[in-house]
Amino acid sequence: MAQYINKGILLAGGAGTRLYPASAAVSKQLLAVYDKPLIYYSLSVLMRLGIRDILLITHVNDEDRFRALLGDGSHLGIKLNILSETRPRGIANAFLIGEDFIGRDNVTLLLGDNIYCDTGPLKSAAESYRSGAVVFGVHVTDPSEYGVADVDCYGNVTAIEEKPVQPKSDIAVTGLYFYDDTVVQIARGIQPSERGELEITTVNNVYLERKQLRMVTLDANLIWFDAGSAQSMLNAGNYISSLESTAERKIGCIEEAAYLEGFITAGQLTELAEKMPDTDYRDYLLKLVR
Ligand code: G1P
Repeated sequence: MAQYINKGILLAGGAGTRLYPASAAVSKQLLAVYDKPLIYYSLSVLMRLGIRDILLITHVNDEDRFRALLGDGSHLGIKLNILSETRPRGIANAFLIGEDFIGRDNVTLLLGDNIYCDTGPLKSAAESYRSGAVVFGVHVTDPSEYGVADVDCYGNVTAIEEKPVQPKSDIAVTGLYFYDDTVVQIARGIQPSERGELEITTVNNVYLERKQLRMVTLDANLIWFDAGSAQSMLNAGNYISSLESTAERKIGCIEEAAYLEGFITAGQLTELAEKMPDTDYRDYLLKLVR
C-alpha cells in the first residue's frame, strides 16, 4: 500500500553550543558517535521509514562537508538536497527554508542529533499516517531538557511545553515529527520564543489546538538518545558499541538501510563496500550480501 509520507527534512544546523569546543570548527552532526558520524543515525532512520526524497539543512560553513560525506545520495538510491542557513533561527525555520521542497506533500522532520536504536514502531506510524501532526513521546528521567507532553487521564496530549522548569509529566517529545503541508503556513504564522527561536513546540501546539496532533508513546525498549551534549554523545557511543559487538548488528548504517529498503541492489552494495578502506564497517556490509 502506498505510504502517505514520502519526504523528509533532516536538520543538521544549530549552533552546537552545548558541545563547545568539540563543535567549534565543525557541525556536531559530523562528529563521530562510536564508529560513524552522528548524521548517519538519523539519515538511516529516514531511509528505514522508506523515505528517499530528503532535504538536509545545515549551516552554510558545513554545506561542503556534508556534500563531501553524502554527495547527492544517488549511491544510496536516495535524492539528497542540501540547503543552508547563515544563522540558526530555530527548528521550525526548517519549514520556511524547505517550503519549495515540501510543496503540497506531507513531510517528516528529523533532528540530526536524535538516535533511535529501533525503527519498527516508527515505520508502523509512518505507514498509518494520513494527515495532521504525529509526535513520538518517550518516558525520561530529566524531562525539563526537552519538549514535554502534558497528558490527561486517557493519555491524550493536552499541551506541549518547551523545556519547562516544572514539567507536568515525564514524557519527552523526541525529535521526529510527521506533518501535512499546512506546516509551512503554521511556521510562517508563529512568533519567536523568548530565546528568539521559532520553536517546533509552538508548531505542535497549533496542531494540538486544531485537534490534529497525535502522540505515539514509544516503548521503554526503544532506546533513544538526544546526542546534543558531550555526555549524551558518549552515552550513545558506549551503548552502540556494546550493542554492535554483542548483537553483531549495526545501528545507523546508511548503506545497510539502502539495501534493506531495496533502494540499492546487492551488487551495488558490494561495489560501495569494496571502495571503502579495510575496516569492520566494510566487512559488515560485505557480510550482509554474502
Ligand atoms: C529540541 C526540541 C525539543 C525536543 C528535542 C528532542 O530541543 O526543541 O522539543 O524535545 O529537540 O531532541 P533541543 O535538543 O534542540 O534543545
